[in-house]
Amino acid sequence: MPLPFPVPPGWERAFAELPRSRFLPDVFWPHDLAADTFTVADRAADPRAWRRAAEADVPVVTQWDDGRHTGPGPGRDATSSASRPSLVAAMLEALEVTPGIRVLEIGTGTGWNAALLAHRLGERNVTTVEIDPRVAADAAKALARAGLHPDLVVGDGAEGAPDAAPFDRIIATAGLSRVPPAWTRQVRPGGLILTPWGTPYSRWEGLARLTVGPDGGASGPFVDLVAFMKLRAQRRAVPRYPEGLPFTDSTGGVWPPHELWHPFRFLAGLRLPDVTHAVQAHDDGHTQWLYSLTDASWTAAVRRSVGPVEIRQAGTRRLWDELLDAYAWWTSAGEPPLTHFGLTITPDGTHTPWLHTPATPVRP
Ligand SMILES: C[S@@+](CC[C@H](N)C(=O)[O-])C[C@H]1O[C@@H](n2cnc3c(N)ncnc32)[C@H](O)[C@@H]1O
Repeated sequence: MPLPFPVPPGWERAFAELPRSRFLPDVFWPHDLAADTFTVADRAADPRAWRRAAEADVPVVTQWDDGRHTGPGPGRDATSSASRPSLVAAMLEALEVTPGIRVLEIGTGTGWNAALLAHRLGERNVTTVEIDPRVAADAAKALARAGLHPDLVVGDGAEGAPDAAPFDRIIATAGLSRVPPAWTRQVRPGGLILTPWGTPYSRWEGLARLTVGPDGGASGPFVDLVAFMKLRAQRRAVPRYPEGLPFTDSTGGVWPPHELWHPFRFLAGLRLPDVTHAVQAHDDGHTQWLYSLTDASWTAAVRRSVGPVEIRQAGTRRLWDELLDAYAWWTSAGEPPLTHFGLTITPDGTHTPWLHTPATPVRP
Protein backbone atom coordinates (compact mmCIF):
# COMPACT_ATOMS: atom_id res chain seq x y z
CA MET A 1 0.00 0.00 0.00
CA PRO A 2 1.48 3.42 -0.89
CA LEU A 3 2.37 5.57 2.10
CA PRO A 4 0.34 8.77 2.59
CA PHE A 5 3.49 10.92 2.53
CA PRO A 6 6.57 11.25 0.30
CA VAL A 7 9.47 9.02 1.32
CA PRO A 8 12.90 10.48 0.54
CA PRO A 9 15.32 8.58 -1.70
CA GLY A 10 17.22 5.89 0.14
CA TRP A 11 14.60 5.54 2.90
CA GLU A 12 11.99 3.52 0.95
CA ARG A 13 12.85 0.12 2.42
CA ALA A 14 13.11 1.39 5.98
CA PHE A 15 9.65 3.01 5.80
CA ALA A 16 8.12 0.01 3.98
CA GLU A 17 9.46 -2.54 6.47
CA LEU A 18 8.95 -0.50 9.62
CA PRO A 19 5.44 1.01 9.64
CA ARG A 20 4.82 3.41 12.51
CA SER A 21 1.99 1.20 13.83
CA ARG A 22 4.58 -1.34 15.06
CA PHE A 23 5.89 1.23 17.54
CA LEU A 24 2.64 2.60 18.90
CA PRO A 25 0.98 1.59 22.17
CA ASP A 26 -2.57 0.22 22.35
CA VAL A 27 -3.87 3.62 23.44
CA PHE A 28 -2.68 6.91 21.95
CA TRP A 29 -4.09 10.32 21.07
CA PRO A 30 -3.96 11.54 17.42
CA HIS A 31 -3.46 15.31 17.14
CA ASP A 32 -5.73 17.19 14.74
CA LEU A 33 -3.21 19.85 13.69
CA ALA A 34 -5.75 22.18 12.07
CA ALA A 35 -8.13 22.25 15.05
CA ASP A 36 -5.36 21.69 17.65
CA THR A 37 -7.46 19.00 19.36
CA PHE A 38 -6.86 15.41 20.48
CA THR A 39 -9.03 12.31 20.33
CA VAL A 40 -8.28 8.86 21.72
CA ALA A 41 -7.42 5.78 19.63
CA ASP A 42 -7.96 2.62 21.69
CA ARG A 43 -7.01 -0.64 20.01
CA ALA A 44 -9.25 -2.80 22.21
CA ALA A 45 -12.30 -0.58 21.78
CA ASP A 46 -11.99 -0.01 18.01
CA PRO A 47 -9.10 -1.82 16.27
CA ARG A 48 -9.93 -0.40 12.83
CA ALA A 49 -9.99 3.19 14.05
CA TRP A 50 -6.71 2.52 15.93
CA ARG A 51 -5.04 1.30 12.71
CA ARG A 52 -6.42 4.19 10.65
CA ALA A 53 -5.02 6.67 13.15
CA ALA A 54 -1.68 4.81 13.39
CA GLU A 55 -1.28 4.97 9.61
CA ALA A 56 -2.50 8.56 9.16
CA ASP A 57 -0.08 11.41 8.57
CA VAL A 58 -0.70 13.02 11.95
CA PRO A 59 1.36 13.27 15.13
CA VAL A 60 0.12 11.05 17.95
CA VAL A 61 0.63 11.64 21.66
CA THR A 62 1.74 8.52 23.51
CA GLN A 63 2.24 9.99 27.00
CA TRP A 64 0.73 12.89 28.96
CA ASP A 65 2.09 14.61 32.06
CA ASP A 66 5.23 12.48 32.31
CA GLY A 67 3.10 9.35 32.69
CA ARG A 68 0.95 10.59 35.58
CA HIS A 69 -2.17 10.92 33.43
CA THR A 70 -4.70 8.09 33.33
CA GLY A 71 -8.00 7.69 31.49
CA PRO A 72 -9.10 8.05 27.89
CA GLY A 73 -9.28 11.87 27.72
CA PRO A 74 -6.24 13.93 26.80
CA GLY A 75 -4.06 15.03 29.72
CA ARG A 76 -2.69 18.51 30.35
CA ASP A 77 0.77 18.45 28.74
CA ALA A 78 1.83 16.08 25.98
CA THR A 79 5.17 14.64 27.11
CA SER A 80 5.93 11.91 24.55
CA SER A 81 4.71 11.31 21.02
CA ALA A 82 5.41 9.90 17.61
CA SER A 83 5.77 12.76 15.16
CA ARG A 84 3.79 13.14 11.95
CA PRO A 85 5.30 10.58 9.51
CA SER A 86 5.82 13.17 6.74
CA LEU A 87 7.85 15.27 9.21
CA VAL A 88 9.88 12.22 10.30
CA ALA A 89 10.64 11.58 6.62
CA ALA A 90 11.50 15.23 5.93
CA MET A 91 13.81 15.36 8.96
CA LEU A 92 15.60 12.17 7.88
CA GLU A 93 16.07 13.68 4.42
CA ALA A 94 17.43 16.92 5.93
CA LEU A 95 19.87 14.83 7.99
CA GLU A 96 21.68 13.85 4.74
CA VAL A 97 22.92 10.47 5.87
CA THR A 98 25.42 8.39 3.95
CA PRO A 99 26.46 4.80 4.68
CA GLY A 100 28.69 4.39 7.71
CA ILE A 101 27.94 7.70 9.43
CA ARG A 102 27.18 7.77 13.13
CA VAL A 103 24.01 9.40 14.41
CA LEU A 104 22.85 10.44 17.86
CA GLU A 105 19.10 10.88 18.32
CA ILE A 106 17.79 12.88 21.27
CA GLY A 107 14.32 11.78 22.44
CA THR A 108 13.76 8.09 21.64
CA GLY A 109 10.00 8.31 22.28
CA THR A 110 8.35 5.31 20.64
CA GLY A 111 11.64 4.19 19.05
CA TRP A 112 10.27 4.51 15.51
CA ASN A 113 12.80 7.10 14.29
CA ALA A 114 15.68 5.19 15.93
CA ALA A 115 14.45 2.05 14.15
CA LEU A 116 14.40 3.80 10.76
CA LEU A 117 17.93 5.12 11.37
CA ALA A 118 19.20 1.72 12.55
CA HIS A 119 17.62 0.00 9.53
CA ARG A 120 19.33 2.42 7.13
CA LEU A 121 22.70 2.90 8.85
CA GLY A 122 23.15 -0.26 10.90
CA GLU A 123 22.30 -0.47 14.57
CA ARG A 124 25.94 0.03 15.61
CA ASN A 125 25.89 3.49 14.08
CA VAL A 126 22.86 4.72 15.99
CA THR A 127 22.65 5.94 19.58
CA THR A 128 19.38 7.25 20.99
CA VAL A 129 18.80 8.93 24.36
CA GLU A 130 15.49 9.03 26.25
CA ILE A 131 15.03 10.70 29.62
CA ASP A 132 11.89 8.85 30.70
CA PRO A 133 12.70 5.28 31.84
CA ARG A 134 9.21 3.92 31.09
CA VAL A 135 9.14 5.45 27.63
CA ALA A 136 12.64 4.06 27.02
CA ALA A 137 11.60 0.58 28.20
CA ASP A 138 8.62 0.51 25.82
CA ALA A 139 10.82 1.73 22.95
CA ALA A 140 13.42 -0.96 23.70
CA LYS A 141 10.68 -3.63 23.51
CA ALA A 142 9.31 -2.29 20.21
CA LEU A 143 12.82 -2.07 18.75
CA ALA A 144 13.63 -5.63 19.86
CA ARG A 145 10.36 -6.88 18.29
CA ALA A 146 11.56 -5.28 15.05
CA GLY A 147 14.89 -7.09 15.46
CA LEU A 148 16.83 -3.85 16.01
CA HIS A 149 19.16 -3.00 18.89
CA PRO A 150 20.59 0.50 18.55
CA ASP A 151 22.44 1.85 21.57
CA LEU A 152 19.56 3.13 23.77
CA VAL A 153 20.71 5.34 26.64
CA VAL A 154 18.33 6.30 29.45
CA GLY A 155 19.45 9.75 30.53
CA ASP A 156 19.43 13.46 29.84
CA GLY A 157 19.99 14.06 26.15
CA ALA A 158 21.31 17.55 26.96
CA GLU A 159 24.53 15.75 27.86
CA GLY A 160 24.62 13.99 24.50
CA ALA A 161 26.16 10.52 24.71
CA PRO A 162 29.81 11.11 25.64
CA ASP A 163 30.67 7.41 25.72
CA ALA A 164 29.62 6.95 22.10
CA ALA A 165 30.89 10.31 20.70
CA PRO A 166 31.98 11.63 18.26
CA PHE A 167 29.01 11.64 15.90
CA ASP A 168 28.50 12.82 12.35
CA ARG A 169 24.93 13.90 13.07
CA ILE A 170 22.68 14.79 15.97
CA ILE A 171 18.93 14.74 15.37
CA ALA A 172 16.83 16.14 18.20
CA THR A 173 13.16 15.22 18.36
CA ALA A 174 12.47 17.53 21.31
CA GLY A 175 12.39 21.34 21.13
CA LEU A 176 14.81 23.71 22.84
CA SER A 177 15.91 27.31 23.03
CA ARG A 178 19.56 26.68 23.95
CA VAL A 179 21.56 24.06 22.06
CA PRO A 180 23.52 22.20 24.77
CA PRO A 181 27.28 22.74 24.50
CA ALA A 182 27.78 18.96 24.69
CA TRP A 183 26.17 18.63 21.26
CA THR A 184 28.55 20.94 19.41
CA ARG A 185 31.45 19.21 21.23
CA GLN A 186 30.26 15.72 20.30
CA VAL A 187 29.70 16.34 16.57
CA ARG A 188 32.80 16.33 14.40
CA PRO A 189 33.54 19.49 12.39
CA GLY A 190 31.52 19.46 9.18
CA GLY A 191 28.83 17.33 10.82
CA LEU A 192 25.21 18.41 11.29
CA ILE A 193 22.89 19.14 14.19
CA LEU A 194 19.22 19.07 13.20
CA THR A 195 17.13 20.47 16.02
CA PRO A 196 13.87 22.31 16.66
CA TRP A 197 14.93 25.70 18.09
CA GLY A 198 12.59 28.33 19.44
CA THR A 199 12.27 31.20 21.88
CA PRO A 200 10.02 31.45 24.93
CA TYR A 201 7.62 33.46 22.75
CA SER A 202 5.61 30.53 21.42
CA ARG A 203 5.47 26.78 21.14
CA TRP A 204 6.59 26.89 17.50
CA GLU A 205 10.15 26.21 16.50
CA GLY A 206 12.28 26.61 13.44
CA LEU A 207 13.90 23.31 12.53
CA ALA A 208 17.56 24.43 12.54
CA ARG A 209 20.00 22.56 10.32
CA LEU A 210 23.35 23.58 11.79
CA THR A 211 26.76 22.71 10.38
CA VAL A 212 29.35 22.36 13.14
CA GLY A 213 32.49 24.43 12.56
CA PRO A 214 36.09 23.61 13.46
CA ASP A 215 36.00 26.01 16.41
CA GLY A 216 33.04 24.37 18.19
CA GLY A 217 30.44 26.80 16.86
CA ALA A 218 27.59 25.89 14.51
CA SER A 219 25.47 27.73 11.97
CA GLY A 220 22.76 27.08 9.42
CA PRO A 221 19.26 27.83 8.15
CA PHE A 222 15.82 26.97 9.48
CA VAL A 223 14.31 24.44 7.12
CA ASP A 224 10.77 24.00 8.47
CA LEU A 225 8.24 25.30 10.99
CA VAL A 226 7.62 22.68 13.68
CA ALA A 227 6.23 22.33 17.20
CA PHE A 228 7.90 19.72 19.37
CA MET A 229 7.47 18.88 23.00
CA LYS A 230 10.33 20.49 24.83
CA LEU A 231 13.50 19.05 26.26
CA ARG A 232 12.60 18.45 29.90
CA ALA A 233 14.96 21.03 31.40
CA GLN A 234 13.83 23.65 28.89
CA ARG A 235 10.06 23.44 29.38
CA ARG A 236 8.29 26.72 29.98
CA ALA A 237 4.99 27.69 31.51
CA VAL A 238 2.78 30.60 30.48
CA PRO A 239 2.66 32.93 33.48
CA ARG A 240 -0.60 34.43 34.71
CA TYR A 241 -0.21 37.71 36.51
CA PRO A 242 -2.55 38.87 39.24
CA GLU A 243 -5.08 41.55 38.50
CA GLY A 244 -4.39 44.98 39.89
CA LEU A 245 -1.44 46.26 37.88
CA PRO A 246 -2.51 49.68 36.49
CA PHE A 247 -3.24 49.45 32.78
CA THR A 248 -4.02 51.74 29.88
CA ASP A 249 -6.63 51.12 27.20
CA SER A 250 -6.36 52.15 23.58
CA THR A 251 -7.61 51.04 20.16
CA GLY A 252 -5.84 50.30 16.91
CA GLY A 253 -6.21 48.85 13.46
CA VAL A 254 -3.20 46.57 13.00
CA TRP A 255 -3.56 42.92 13.94
CA PRO A 256 -0.41 40.74 13.62
CA PRO A 257 -1.25 37.21 12.40
CA HIS A 258 -2.59 34.97 15.14
CA GLU A 259 -3.34 31.79 13.16
CA LEU A 260 -2.00 28.39 14.18
CA TRP A 261 1.07 27.55 12.08
CA HIS A 262 1.54 31.12 10.83
CA PRO A 263 5.35 31.61 10.65
CA PHE A 264 5.03 34.97 12.38
CA ARG A 265 4.01 33.07 15.54
CA PHE A 266 7.66 31.88 15.57
CA LEU A 267 9.42 34.84 13.94
CA ALA A 268 7.99 37.45 16.33
CA GLY A 269 9.91 35.70 19.11
CA LEU A 270 13.19 36.61 17.42
CA ARG A 271 12.39 40.28 18.09
CA LEU A 272 10.57 40.09 21.44
CA PRO A 273 13.00 38.85 24.09
CA ASP A 274 11.67 37.40 27.34
CA VAL A 275 8.05 37.51 26.22
CA THR A 276 5.53 34.75 25.84
CA HIS A 277 2.43 34.89 23.66
CA ALA A 278 -0.88 33.05 23.67
CA VAL A 279 -4.04 33.28 21.54
CA GLN A 280 -7.53 32.83 22.96
CA ALA A 281 -10.46 32.20 20.62
CA HIS A 282 -13.94 33.63 21.33
CA ASP A 283 -17.26 33.18 19.52
CA ASP A 284 -16.75 36.60 18.04
CA GLY A 285 -12.98 36.97 17.61
CA HIS A 286 -9.64 36.47 19.28
CA THR A 287 -7.48 37.84 22.07
CA GLN A 288 -3.70 37.93 21.77
CA TRP A 289 -2.07 37.83 25.19
CA LEU A 290 1.54 38.85 25.80
CA TYR A 291 3.36 38.32 29.07
CA SER A 292 6.80 39.61 30.01
CA LEU A 293 8.99 36.96 31.63
CA THR A 294 11.19 39.51 33.37
CA ASP A 295 8.59 41.74 35.04
CA ALA A 296 4.83 41.63 35.42
CA SER A 297 4.01 43.53 32.22
CA TRP A 298 1.18 42.07 30.18
CA THR A 299 -1.01 42.95 27.24
CA ALA A 300 -4.37 41.75 25.99
CA ALA A 301 -5.51 42.80 22.52
CA VAL A 302 -8.98 41.80 21.32
CA ARG A 303 -10.25 41.76 17.76
CA ARG A 304 -13.93 41.10 17.17
CA SER A 305 -15.73 40.70 13.84
CA VAL A 306 -16.57 44.42 13.90
CA GLY A 307 -14.88 47.37 15.53
CA PRO A 308 -11.28 48.34 16.17
CA VAL A 309 -8.67 46.25 17.96
CA GLU A 310 -9.08 46.94 21.70
CA ILE A 311 -5.74 47.01 23.50
CA ARG A 312 -5.02 46.88 27.22
CA GLN A 313 -1.35 47.26 28.26
CA ALA A 314 -0.05 46.99 31.81
CA GLY A 315 3.40 47.31 33.35
CA THR A 316 6.60 48.97 32.29
CA ARG A 317 6.87 47.20 28.92
CA ARG A 318 4.40 48.14 26.19
CA LEU A 319 4.24 44.65 24.80
CA TRP A 320 1.62 45.32 22.09
CA ASP A 321 3.77 48.16 20.78
CA GLU A 322 6.77 45.81 20.73
CA LEU A 323 4.74 43.24 18.78
CA LEU A 324 3.59 45.88 16.28
CA ASP A 325 7.24 46.96 15.82
CA ALA A 326 8.21 43.33 15.13
CA TYR A 327 5.34 43.00 12.65
CA ALA A 328 6.32 46.24 10.87
CA TRP A 329 9.91 44.96 10.66
CA TRP A 330 8.78 41.66 9.11
CA THR A 331 6.35 43.24 6.62
CA SER A 332 8.81 45.95 5.58
CA ALA A 333 11.40 43.21 4.89
CA GLY A 334 8.88 41.70 2.42
CA GLU A 335 7.48 39.03 4.79
CA PRO A 336 10.46 36.70 4.32
CA PRO A 337 9.56 33.05 4.90
CA LEU A 338 11.05 31.05 7.73
CA THR A 339 13.58 29.41 5.40
CA HIS A 340 15.27 32.79 4.85
CA PHE A 341 16.20 32.82 8.53
CA GLY A 342 18.88 30.86 10.36
CA LEU A 343 20.84 30.54 13.56
CA THR A 344 24.49 30.85 14.54
CA ILE A 345 25.95 29.54 17.79
CA THR A 346 29.40 30.86 18.63
CA PRO A 347 31.94 28.73 20.55
CA ASP A 348 31.05 30.64 23.74
CA GLY A 349 27.43 29.49 23.37
CA THR A 350 25.86 32.77 22.17
CA HIS A 351 22.81 32.06 19.97
CA THR A 352 22.11 34.63 17.23
CA PRO A 353 19.25 34.26 14.75
CA TRP A 354 19.76 35.91 11.37
CA LEU A 355 17.89 36.88 8.23
CA HIS A 356 19.35 35.90 4.81
CA THR A 357 22.94 35.42 6.04
CA PRO A 358 24.78 35.14 9.38
CA ALA A 359 26.18 38.62 8.63
CA THR A 360 22.70 40.16 9.14
CA PRO A 361 21.56 39.21 12.64
CA VAL A 362 18.00 39.75 13.82
CA ARG A 363 18.23 42.14 16.74
CA PRO A 364 15.48 42.54 19.33
C1 LIG B 1 8.48 13.91 20.23
S1 LIG B 1 9.02 12.67 21.34
C2 LIG B 1 10.20 11.77 20.37
C3 LIG B 1 9.67 11.01 19.20
C4 LIG B 1 10.56 9.87 18.80
N1 LIG B 1 11.79 10.29 18.17
C5 LIG B 1 9.85 8.81 18.00
O1 LIG B 1 10.36 8.37 16.96
O2 LIG B 1 8.80 8.36 18.45
C6 LIG B 1 10.10 13.55 22.45
C7 LIG B 1 10.78 12.66 23.45
O3 LIG B 1 11.85 13.38 24.04
C8 LIG B 1 11.98 12.93 25.36
N2 LIG B 1 12.80 13.88 26.10
C9 LIG B 1 12.41 15.06 26.67
N3 LIG B 1 13.47 15.64 27.27
C10 LIG B 1 14.53 14.83 27.08
C11 LIG B 1 15.89 14.88 27.47
N4 LIG B 1 16.36 15.91 28.19
N5 LIG B 1 16.70 13.87 27.10
C12 LIG B 1 16.23 12.82 26.37
N6 LIG B 1 14.95 12.71 26.00
C13 LIG B 1 14.11 13.71 26.33
C14 LIG B 1 10.54 12.81 25.83
O4 LIG B 1 10.43 11.99 26.98
C15 LIG B 1 9.87 12.23 24.60
O5 LIG B 1 9.81 10.84 24.66
